[in-house]
Amino acid sequence: MRFDTKLVHSGHPSTPGTGDIVPPVHLATTYDRFAQDPPRFFYSRGENPTREALEECLASLEDASFCRVFSSGQAAAAAAVSLLTPGDRLVSSDDVYGGTYALFATLSRRGIEVEYADLTDRTVLDRALAAETAMVWVETPSNPMLKIADLVEVGELAHRRGALVVVDNTFAGPVLQRPLALGADVTLYSTTKFIAGHSDVLGGALVYDSAELHARFSEHRTVTGGVPGGLDCFLVHRGLKTLSLRVARQGETARLLAETLCASTAVGAVHYPGLPSHPRYRLAGRQMAGPGSLISFRYRGDPEKLLARTRLFACAVSLGGVRSLIECPALMTHRPMSPAARRAAGITDDLIRLSVGIEDPADLVEDLTTALEPSEEDAA
Ligand SMILES: Cc1ncc(COP(=O)(O)O)c(C=O)c1O
Repeated sequence: MRFDTKLVHSGHPSTPGTGDIVPPVHLATTYDRFAQDPPRFFYSRGENPTREALEECLASLEDASFCRVFSSGQAAAAAAVSLLTPGDRLVSSDDVYGGTYALFATLSRRGIEVEYADLTDRTVLDRALAAETAMVWVETPSNPMLKIADLVEVGELAHRRGALVVVDNTFAGPVLQRPLALGADVTLYSTTKFIAGHSDVLGGALVYDSAELHARFSEHRTVTGGVPGGLDCFLVHRGLKTLSLRVARQGETARLLAETLCASTAVGAVHYPGLPSHPRYRLAGRQMAGPGSLISFRYRGDPEKLLARTRLFACAVSLGGVRSLIECPALMTHRPMSPAARRAAGITDDLIRLSVGIEDPADLVEDLTTALEPSEEDAA
């Protein structure tokens, strides 16, 4: 099966007996042992058929052997870092999601050293990986600066040091980028975003090929209990079916909006990997099947007023859903970072992030243009 067919078919053949063409939602928390031959389902914190259907589909999208889904992207990230032990060192992209940054801040209490580095710069990368390193955490495109790390380069250098490479692929999603094929050991998703796509369910996933990792992640999930319920898994799986269609539409509109932003005198730098001015435009073109639908830019006016002026872009955190969103990372998603770390990563108060939805592109262009350059009457 090709990718788009897997999105629709993988993980749920028609149910024998009823012929359901969508996976049934299993809500039972426990299972009758003698009604199964052989017994495979015991307790839903460990096993759930709706959850397994979703895992089969997500693994198939990267041609991977395994997937474990979690109750949120954060729970998936916590499972990934549970591999680290005191004395280990983690090297991370310097602009990661604020919640990831907050999670990493807790690692120092467990005796794990975290070093942030600009993994898009080969010299910095070499220096960061000069010391013994257990794990390299890459977010590409990064949040919110849309920096692009070269996954093949990072993978080769990290593996030479014996480090495990985890790629947070939430921004690109599996339609645009498949990290395992580029050398990563683990792909992480907040399925809350593009994969579920409708801003109505939280979820996370880890996708990988190693049976040893599978044993560790399965154990971690069962003992810590960060599992998604049957209905949540059903919603995430349903979202997957339209993922390619949504991502294509969102990407086309994002390109248009990026050009609109570049033409506005109210806007400074525009960060979007689909613009030839992006420092890694060519790499993004090679590594990704499209530049995606997240854009960040520097606004020359009052960011709070801009956020309040858009009508279609809702002022809200999160991303990747059908409805367009606007936010100020320094005030919202990246608040958990210290002001100094934010400044070092370029996340200042004038930086605005857009998540482009599937509304009519002309309406979005109109909404943004009016908000950026309001008439005297609108600005009043
Ligand atoms: C890039 C990235 N990774 C991970 C997460 C965490 O995911 P969740 O909110 O599902 O826990 C987010 C959430 O915004 C994110 O943007």
